[in-house]
Amino acid sequence: MIVAPERIPVRTPGGSYDVLVGPGLLRVVGGLVKRLAPGARCFLVTDGNVARLHGPIVEGSILDAGVELFVATQNPGEASKNWFEAGMMMELLSEAGFGRDSVLVALGGGVVGDLAGFVASVYMRGVPVVHVPTTLLAQVDSSIGGKTGVDLRHGKNLAGTYWQPLMVLSDTSCLASLPESEWRCGFAELAKSAFLAGDAETAGLEASCEQLVAGDEETVRAAVLMAAGFKARVVSGDEREDCDREQLNYGHTLAHALERELGYGTVSHGVAVAEGMRFAAALSARLAGAAPEWVQRQERLLDSLGLTRGSYDLASDKLLAAMHADKKARDGKVRFILSREPGQWSAVTVEDDILREALDMWRQQGREGS
Ligand SMILES: NC(=O)c1ccc[n+]([C@@H]2O[C@H](COP(=O)([O-])OP(=O)(O)OC[C@H]3O[C@@H](n4cnc5c(N)ncnc54)[C@H](O)[C@@H]3O)[C@@H](O)[C@H]2O)c1
Repeated sequence: MIVAPERIPVRTPGGSYDVLVGPGLLRVVGGLVKRLAPGARCFLVTDGNVARLHGPIVEGSILDAGVELFVATQNPGEASKNWFEAGMMMELLSEAGFGRDSVLVALGGGVVGDLAGFVASVYMRGVPVVHVPTTLLAQVDSSIGGKTGVDLRHGKNLAGTYWQPLMVLSDTSCLASLPESEWRCGFAELAKSAFLAGDAETAGLEASCEQLVAGDEETVRAAVLMAAGFKARVVSGDEREDCDREQLNYGHTLAHALERELGYGTVSHGVAVAEGMRFAAALSARLAGAAPEWVQRQERLLDSLGLTRGSYDLASDKLLAAMHADKKARDGKVRFILSREPGQWSAVTVEDDILREALDMWRQQGREGS
């Protein structure tokens, strides 16, 4: 049964579309695709886990709508987000005779979404894509805003495009099958959205932490709506990360360095982002005038979401070098998103000696478990 979904508009120069959020949307994918792209043939991209859990419902809805369907199933995980898989997918599309009248449907987490979005943006110089995100991270973040990409040997997301989808369908009931570690990845991005959105959003998340961690459907739906709405507003104002969109990197500078130095997959992205936000909050107290209460409030919320502190056997200089190697570093300087108070942010270039000291302190706190 479908409870009426909420509709969040995204309006960018590259395309305008709605993000629908609610339970039961997987069952209506076919009908909505048919309505938005009449006469199109559908190329469904998914991964093995999602195919097993949710593929039959979506495939059934597409076939019931009388839409021709071709399914491409990837191996689950980041390793599939590469140039070779993208090329194979385009060969499959052309072999099966898909033309400009095709629509790609990306059913899965951020990996499937980034890969299918990338393929859609270059196949025949661009065909429409519908995102059907099935992880919390993808519903609150990656499916909205049109960033696509594949990883290269030298780093994540080094090749990519901006390609806005035709529509995003976030079925909150399909999150029930997510493993614990994937919930935590989404919680980190949810917390980030709340901190950047403002005091009311942060307080809302604080008040609903317990139900959220317990997976209460209505609480999860409300949280997805909050974060998806926030992301939609930010990318509508700045499609290509010229200004406002940069704030979404809050917590990600240290997170990317940690993931890179520990080896991708060793620490989950969510845990790394949570560490990164703790670090950015401490830097904000030192450089941006953040009050200790704001730093502690962020720490408490991350703890309540199960994103507890870790201790990592990594030298500060290694992390610093990794920050310099990040594609977001500019003119050899590391830029951090800092936050003075809920809803406020600034992009600040931070000198190496300050970063080294802050990293030493962060590592010390990790060892002490606080
Ligand atoms: N484009 C963007 O703006 C953007 C933003 C943030 C992250 N990303 C990208 O997103 C990717 C990470 O996405 P992710 O965290 O969703 O990872 P993912 O796509 O690898 O999914 C995580 C795991 O969950 C499984 N899964 C998916 N849905 C499920 C469900 N409903 N039930 C059970 N299992 C399910 C998948 O098979 C996979 O094993 C990274 O590649 C990252 O670079 C992109």
